[in-house]
Amino acid sequence: MSSSLLTIEGLQVRFETADGEVSAVNGMDLDIGQGERIAVVGESGSGKSQAFLACLGLLARNGSAHGQVRWQDLNLLELSQQKLNTIRGRHIGMVFQDPMTALTPHLKVGRQLNEVLEIHRGQTGTLARQRCLEVLDQVRMPDPDKRLDQYPHELSGGMRQRVMIAMALLCEPKVLIADEPTTALDVTIQAEILALFKDLVEQQSMALVLITHDLGVVAGLCERAAVMYAGRVVEAGSVADLFTAPAHPYTAGLIGSTPKLKQAYGEPMPTIPGQPPNLSNLPVGCAFRPRCRYGIERCAERPKFKPLADGQGAACHRAGEWGGGA
Ligand SMILES: Nc1ncnc2c1ncn2[C@@H]1O[C@H](COP(=O)(O)OP(=O)(O)O)[C@@H](O)[C@H]1O
Ligand code: SF4
Ligand SMILES: [Mg+2]
Repeated sequence: MSSSLLTIEGLQVRFETADGEVSAVNGMDLDIGQGERIAVVGESGSGKSQAFLACLGLLARNGSAHGQVRWQDLNLLELSQQKLNTIRGRHIGMVFQDPMTALTPHLKVGRQLNEVLEIHRGQTGTLARQRCLEVLDQVRMPDPDKRLDQYPHELSGGMRQRVMIAMALLCEPKVLIADEPTTALDVTIQAEILALFKDLVEQQSMALVLITHDLGVVAGLCERAAVMYAGRVVEAGSVADLFTAPAHPYTAGLIGSTPKLKQAYGEPMPTIPGQPPNLSNLPVGCAFRPRCRYGIERCAERPKFKPLADGQGAACHRAGEWGGGA
């Protein structure tokens, strides 16, 4: 087992809204090892993005985070914005779904990349230019020289995403957090960007956190996955174990609703009836209970995360007993 790089413990994220409090993340635990490739999966609204935005101090103003996010001997949730800026630029890279929101529209690509190098490494001039070209080359950007002199809107969606990835890689981070990095792209470009991530993590011993609602993109890129439901990790384990023997009924449901996986793994898995929970009024006990066909009386108590065999674990009273699991 690789040693820990980033450890999330008991993370809670709440938003104050006119309609009351929204509990987006509700006691999330996750340990990310050095060089590990981990997928964080779950339906839209399950708290994936907000959990990692909270880790990096990027929550909206009405949001607050509690718990522990350990990076080296620091709790990221207690750091000043200034310290977090340094960690974000240098050690933890982040790539978002829509590169347009992260790139500055009125600045040329070269200028934006240069700024990162100047702020975090004090590099300017020819040295900085060389590093920019090197990284653009690494992300397989066609005609890197030409791109430095272009504005983001002059590039295709795929190229903009490559610029974002290049920007995140400039300072050789130890972990790259990619939040739905291919969702906004068309299918062929998606495949290219996923192949690129694969090569990058193999070349660089960098850890990758791939956040996605699409289980179909996980296999082949990540070795481990964490499944989120209602702001909590409800199952974690190797991708192979999770896909062949899910221990949580929700994981089975996710697989059942991903046609490609359903075919690949034979046995029909149950799909998920009902709606995601109301985060302003979470069900008592297991948050999945209103949608779960295996619920019993005990499920009125919140299930603890239970370790099973081979590093797999699930927060379900009936893990491994309802018919799924190892
Ligand atoms: N600024 C905000 N104010 C209120 N609720 C928010 C805010 N930002 C996010 N949320 C809510 O937090 C929940 C989790 O969102 P998110 O982490 O983005 O989900 P995911 O990335 O899994 O799709 C959603 O219900 C979303 O509406
Ligand atoms: S704890 Fe109970 S309700 Fe929740 S997933 Fe497991 S069996 Fe279903
Ligand atoms: Mg999201």
